[in-house]
Amino acid sequence: MGFPEVRMRRLRRNPALRRMVAETSLSPNDFIMPLFVRPGTGIKKEIKSMPGNYQCSVDQLVEEAKAIEAVGVPAVILFGIPDTKDPIGSSAFADDAIVCRAIETLKKECPALCVITDVCMCEYTDHGHCGAIRPNLDGAPDVHNDATLELLAKEALAHARAGADMVAPSDMMDGRVGVLRQTLDDHHFEEVPIMAYSAKFASAFYGPFRDAAESPPQFGDRRTYQMDPPNRKEAMREIALDIEEGADIIMVKPALAYLDIIREASDCFDLPIAAYQVSGEFAMVKSAAAQGWIDEKNTALECLMAIKRAGAKLILTYWAKDAAVWLAR
Ligand code: PBG
Repeated sequence: MGFPEVRMRRLRRNPALRRMVAETSLSPNDFIMPLFVRPGTGIKKEIKSMPGNYQCSVDQLVEEAKAIEAVGVPAVILFGIPDTKDPIGSSAFADDAIVCRAIETLKKECPALCVITDVCMCEYTDHGHCGAIRPNLDGAPDVHNDATLELLAKEALAHARAGADMVAPSDMMDGRVGVLRQTLDDHHFEEVPIMAYSAKFASAFYGPFRDAAESPPQFGDRRTYQMDPPNRKEAMREIALDIEEGADIIMVKPALAYLDIIREASDCFDLPIAAYQVSGEFAMVKSAAAQGWIDEKNTALECLMAIKRAGAKLILTYWAKDAAVWLAR
């Protein structure tokens, strides 16, 4: 008698067995829902390339946030679309900054919801870049690192003062996590965590977002500050630096095309890892599903599971609300 025949299918026979041996699971607790807020009242404008997502005025944003909270999603991340833009993005930290108004109202109406803010200048600058522009060594207009750090610090502080539960710098300037940590601590916001977009790649998958946030760069691209897609070791260096500078959560972005980076980050570092399933990842599935070419729910859940399996604890996803409902059924 030899060994018994290997039968891998024994534990796949029915749903109960499959549930028992599932190595990974998804929960609404894993999700963070991105929301877009703009000045005004009664505004809920669907984003064409991202069906089911809206630019909302604060009153409508509250309704969205309550619905998100009701299905068990613990957190939202806010992006502001201001009325006016200028070269240094001053409406990001002005007294009437739209994200600050949104935070104050959300913390009043949904006190248990974790309100995270995206800290970046690109939604607020008239040139659409993530910071202040100055000529670089080649004489080309480029985002100036240290001038931008000052702007980001002002923005993060404005968010913290308005009551943000967490700030998330997405600009990819060198040293920004350290500067934000120092600024927050100096103003007694030492309890506000930083979720750093640590390994953020210059990606074509951001296309629909630039539509949503009305923030496409007016010249050039973001390749002098966001990471080059071929680079894996550099991603680990970026993450290690952000941890040294005081990041509490590290993020990889985009998610699906960078699962190897998520896996390696999760093997190398003990901090909670977040992954951003970006607008293009969402729009691809949505548009194929609208044609009847792919099943939205099953494809979305499979992608989310893959991101979780790769090692992310948190997933920023435009499916947060829908996926929470699907998982409850
Ligand atoms: C701001 C920012 C971007 C995204 C999140 N924060 C755009 C960009 O870097 O161009 C993209 C999110 C998405 O595509 O869903 N810097």
